[in-house]
Order: sequence, then structure tokens, then C-alpha cells
Amino acid sequence: MTRLTSVKRKLHSADPRDLDEYKQKPHGGSFVLDRIGQCVTMVPRLGEGPLGIIRDAAIAVMEGKIAWIGERSELPREYRRGKFENADHALVTPGLIDCHTHLIFSGSRSDEFYERLNGTSYEKIAERGGGILKTVRMTAKTSDRSLVFKTERRLKKFLRYGVTTVEIKSGYGLETERELRLLRLLKKIQTPVDTIPTFLGAHAIPTEYKSNRKKFVKEVCNEMLPAVVESKLASICDVFCDPAAFTVEESRAILKAAYQLGMQTKVHADQLAPFGGAELAAEFKSLSADHLEHVSDAGIRGLAKAGTVGVLLPGAVFFTNKKQYPNARKLIDGGVRVAISTDCNPGSCNSENLPLMMTFAAVELKMTLAEIWAAVTTHAARACGLSDRGDLQPFRTADLVVWSAKSAADIPYQFGSARARIVFKNGVKVLG
Ligand code: NIG
Ligand code: FE
Repeated sequence: MTRLTSVKRKLHSADPRDLDEYKQKPHGGSFVLDRIGQCVTMVPRLGEGPLGIIRDAAIAVMEGKIAWIGERSELPREYRRGKFENADHALVTPGLIDCHTHLIFSGSRSDEFYERLNGTSYEKIAERGGGILKTVRMTAKTSDRSLVFKTERRLKKFLRYGVTTVEIKSGYGLETERELRLLRLLKKIQTPVDTIPTFLGAHAIPTEYKSNRKKFVKEVCNEMLPAVVESKLASICDVFCDPAAFTVEESRAILKAAYQLGMQTKVHADQLAPFGGAELAAEFKSLSADHLEHVSDAGIRGLAKAGTVGVLLPGAVFFTNKKQYPNARKLIDGGVRVAISTDCNPGSCNSENLPLMMTFAAVELKMTLAEIWAAVTTHAARACGLSDRGDLQPFRTADLVVWSAKSAADIPYQFGSARARIVFKNGVKVLG
């Protein structure tokens, strides 16, 4: 059997039930999720405390949307005749949202992981043409079919971790046709997980442009961005603003071009050094400023004022052996909404495990349980520009996770082993 045939076979045999059932219900499913032990609504007025917890709860879903939520003893009569699903007294939460990933890539960088442990920095590896540029080369050599397959496989892992929406950045193309190719392939992906595409053409300076950076920035602004917008492949633009990537001036030019084309923006900000990335994100009222290990006080004030979400990626700090975690406490106390994400990518964080990042948020970022849950639901939705999901209340999309756990506190506590038992996407059972 050729490699292609084997890939094709796997593509068609992987979890077929999930997708078939999902596709048959374009308007979403209708049912009652009953016998919920603890339901985390994320709407304080609906239940106890900041997580709005309802005990012994039920949720009525109509055509993919939440129609009713409350104590099961109060379930209105009109919902009692339909189909019932049993949560078996487990914890139920909104589907998690991962608001920062670089999922579409090919090839391993395990060699760099071990080099870093021996003292070579992420920046040094990038300088010599490794890092992002290495993934760019390996991705270019991979067929469309294989890239789609690999990305789908990663998304299915996310689903098992209770994640129902994933933002995915391009950025391993760095050239107009290659960037468009990645964004086009994202449209072909078929899993129950919703994907939000973000254009990240300014992820690294390709080697051949190192002595003419201006030319590359111009290409991003005048070629890539208009092509992305015209082909409607993404409506969010991100830029890696860092001494190892794009200067504040270069980043500003790119964000300005994106803004003028009607795109929303994001910034990889103050990751490797204090650099003014957060201030830049605030200037553009960006959806999010991400990383923020070295954010300044002025940057924090700017983000709070602009309503820009601070996306923290503790897995990347851990995996790159950097040891300096962002100061979540200062950001939250300064009025910034904080989200948490995996950053899933082959270089700085090779993981789909968002619940594990919730453990890091507790231990390393000193966030409270309520802050951690907001960071992977409501705040993550905002960082993606989504207002139809992230909490459980009438009219929201019925993205629901029944966990192998009893309480909200169990998920960070399970330390790498938290799993979804059942997942409903738009009210359709896609796992379990
Ligand atoms: O968010 N900082 C830039 N981009 C990624 C790393 C991507 C890579 O190393 O391939 C990040 O950490
Ligand atoms: Fe990133």
C-alpha cells in the first residue's frame, strides 16, 4: 500500500460516526441533558459564585442552541417529552475554547527541544535558521492531503480534552501562495471542532529577506493581506512583535494595513523581551495581546483600557525552558481580561492539552479557579471575537462537555489526565 493510500484510509476511518452524525444535523441537535451533578454556567446570576454553578441541573437544547438551563426539578413541561441524555451526576461545562494555536504544520522539532535543555536558547536556534523557518521548510514539502490529515488528527485530540473551538494561525508559509495555501487547507478540515483562522504572515523574516526586511513587510501589507481578505480566508491578522521577529514599527505597518482592510487584529507581544507589543495591541484595540511574559506597566494599563484580552501561554514558558511566567496577578488586578491557551505548535509548545494549561495557570500563574475557568471559556471567546459561546445560557450555542470529573476544581487538579467523557457540538453528540 502506498503512503497516500494509507493516509486516505485513515482519513476515512478515523471516528467516522462523529462527523456523519454531525453533518446530518445542519441546524444542530435537540435534546435534554439531564442528571448533571455540577453545571458550570459561567453566568453568575444563574447559580452559585462567580462560576454560576447549578447543582442537580438540566439543560434543554433546541436546534443546536440552549433553550433552557436550571435545576432539573424545574425543567419546563414542554421539554419533558423529547430525547434525554444522562450526564450521570458528572461535571458539565461549556466546550473549552483554545484561542491561540499554530496547528497547521508538518514535521517534528524534537531536536530543538533537547538542545534547549542543554542551554541553547529558542532565539539562538531561530537565528541559525531553525525554529519557525525549519517548520516552514518541512510544511512546504508536505502534501495538502497529509497536512489536512495531521491537522484533523490534532483537532480530534483537542476534542478529547473538551475543546470545541480552536483558533488556528497560518504563519508557516511566509510567502503569498504558501500562506494562502495553509488558510485554504484550513477550510477543508472536517472535524466537529470549530476553527477560527488567523493570518500570521508576519511570523518570521525568511532568510532571503534578512538584508531587506522592508521588502518582506511590504509584501505582507501589499500582497498577502489583500489576497487573504479578497479570498475571505481569514478576518483576523496577527503579528509576532519581538526583537527576534518584527519591530514595533514593522508590526504597526502590518496592523495598520490589516485594519484598513477591515480585519481584526492580534499581537504576539512581549514574549521574549520587553518590547512595547502590548502598547501596540492597545493602540489598535486588538482582540488580544498574547504571551506577555515581559509586559510593561504601561502595556497593562493600555490593554485594560482598550478591552484587549491578555492571552497567557504557560505551556510555552515551560516547554521552551524559559522559567519566567507572565504576571497574571498584575494583569488581572490591572483590569485585563486574561485567557489561557496551549499555543499548540511544534516549537514552543507541542501540546493539545488545554486542561493541563489550566493546571499551570493554577500553580505558576497563581490564578484562582474562577479566573482559570473564565480564561478558557468567556475570555477565550472574546479573544476570538466570538459572542455566541463561552457560557451556558439561553440562545448560546450548545457546545457542552460532560467530564470524567465531579467538580470544576477537579479539572486543574487532574494534572494532565482530564478528559471529556461526552461532547456535544451545536447540540450534536460528537464524542462519547
Ligand atoms: O507563539 N512566538 C512565535 N510563535 C510561536 C512559536 C512558533 C514556533 O516556534 O514554531 C509561539 O510561541
Ligand atoms: Fe504563538
